[in-house]
Amino acid sequence: MSEIKKLLGFHAVDHNVESGMRIGLGTGSTAVWAVKRVAEHLSEGKLSNLTLFATSSQTEAACDELGLSTYSLNDPRIAGVLDLTIDGADEIDPAGNLTKGGGGALLREKIAAYCSRRYVIVGDDSKLVQSLGVSFALPLEVVPLARRVVLEALRGMGAEATVREAVRKMGHVITDNGNIIIDARFREQHDPGELERRLDSIPGVVETGLFVGMKPVVYLGAGDGSIRELQLSE
Ligand code: 5RP
Repeated sequence: MSEIKKLLGFHAVDHNVESGMRIGLGTGSTAVWAVKRVAEHLSEGKLSNLTLFATSSQTEAACDELGLSTYSLNDPRIAGVLDLTIDGADEIDPAGNLTKGGGGALLREKIAAYCSRRYVIVGDDSKLVQSLGVSFALPLEVVPLARRVVLEALRGMGAEATVREAVRKMGHVITDNGNIIIDARFREQHDPGELERRLDSIPGVVETGLFVGMKPVVYLGAGDGSIRELQLSE
């Protein structure tokens, strides 16, 4: 499995990154291979003059280890616009709508996606689903004081909703932005755009893991090592 993740990360960089670009680096076990490829190409002189934004503390740490400097989106070298972001996803539907946030980095990932001129998603073909948020619980980033308000609202919408618990630390997961994550599983299928609007209207929800209408370039990898670009349906 990690071999295809590596091939996907390398493929995304090799086919999309050019010297001089401002690049958003995604989060997770697939996106980290794109970070490694960027580092490799910079050290070999195949790429130069990249300005990098990390979508999470995990990606920032990977960049530190690889000797890559990262910058804020507010830095004048980026000034709120990225040329490209390469990221993973938890679910991808045939129209290119996504569920993200399995790694809890959905807020920064969505900001990066929004301000990127080109958005590339990499995932093995098990990530392709007909409907989002049914088999994989949808993550929401929530202000801590609104925990019970949002749980009640989600349960009122028919979702099974739980606060994500930390591993090897007592208590809730706290995001890079000081918030909690609530995972919501919907029993019924929903139109992703309508669901996103309904969830965004709950006070205390900072952002949802639904990435709708962003029309990414999606590379899907198969077990035999082959990679194909998903042709997005309307
Ligand atoms: C993190 C994310 C990741 O991109 C998503 O969870 C996929 O990760 P992986 O490539 O490890 O399966 O959204 O918030």
